[in-house]
Amino acid sequence: MTARDLGLPVRVPGDDLPAAVTVWEVGPRDGLQNETAVVPVAVKLEFLDRLADAGLTTIEATSFVHPKWVPQLADAEELLAGLSKRDGVRYPVLVPNERGLDRALAAGVRHIAIFASATETFASRNLNRTLDSQMEMFDPVVSRAVAEGMDVRGYVSMCFGDPWEGAVDPAAVVSVGQRLLDMGCSQLSLGDTIGVATAGQVAALLSAFAAAGTAMSALAVHFHDTYGQALANTLAALRHGVTTVDSSAGGLGGCPYAESATGNLATEDLVWLLDGLGVDTGVDLDKLADTSAWLAGELGRPSPSRVVRALRG
Ligand code: HMG
Ligand code: MG
Repeated sequence: MTARDLGLPVRVPGDDLPAAVTVWEVGPRDGLQNETAVVPVAVKLEFLDRLADAGLTTIEATSFVHPKWVPQLADAEELLAGLSKRDGVRYPVLVPNERGLDRALAAGVRHIAIFASATETFASRNLNRTLDSQMEMFDPVVSRAVAEGMDVRGYVSMCFGDPWEGAVDPAAVVSVGQRLLDMGCSQLSLGDTIGVATAGQVAALLSAFAAAGTAMSALAVHFHDTYGQALANTLAALRHGVTTVDSSAGGLGGCPYAESATGNLATEDLVWLLDGLGVDTGVDLDKLADTSAWLAGELGRPSPSRVVRALRG
């Protein structure tokens, strides 16, 4: 018998929280980009299908980046050709440049995400660009995508700390984020790429965006869980009015170009918290934990998610 069979977690609604949260599932992209072995397309397709079965409605499917930079996602075309898209489910993909946009358009993609860095060093390591030239790369991508009627999300990485530069100034993050919104991005996802943020820092960054005139509805948070702070940071963001949270089934994830990046906040850990707080996500925790346990078997190692291990370990 598991805790779920006993009716746990107990629901005690919080009065300073949103009624519902959109979970932006990044497991197939952020999770699988960081695996040492390339996962077969058939396994990726089953993963995507099972995530939709578990009630996830935004599933970041893959990246149209240079295949030599991220060989784990070099099968993006094959993956999208094999994907049975569900009504009511969005399948955004990462696109860094016009070559990536051409590939995404040819594959029938409707939602893309560009991904900027708040720091000079990570812009160079992850995109082979400077802080300014990353914007020159993104500008035509966003304008063409918007003209095609696509939805464009903008990621900002290294929002809190950077493995080469240390603490990151919130003003630098707001400046990069505002440029992405001005370009035409509909939403910003604020990335703690190496998982070093703490809750007070999250509140301070969100306040800095609010002071610059950014609506909290235009922001999402993207926490990696290296120091075990992702859930606390998420709660701080929800209390600040954010209602979109990125997470990865089973807690997979990391960035091959960021030293010390570990897995994302696990979707199961997030849903356990939100179920307990009476915040609706539409996600079926049992189906999701089954999916992550199945994927852990395919990957040959246990899920890093505490909730998956507690429920299915
Ligand atoms: P570059 O070497 O500067 O590329 O890489 P380039 O523009 O000089 O082009 C060189 C060649 O690559 C050309 O071919 C291009 O056509 C080709 P040639 O003419 O020489 O034959 N090329 C491409 N081919 C296929 N697809 C493409 C593409 N682009 C160029 N899209 C580039 C620049 C941006 C492409 C490279 O740096 C890159 O692919 N970087 C991606 C790195 C990445 O995916 N990192 C992980 C995702 S970010 C992340 O995980 C953080 C996040 O989760 C948030 C958080 O946690 O903070 C989002
Ligand atoms: Mg990430």
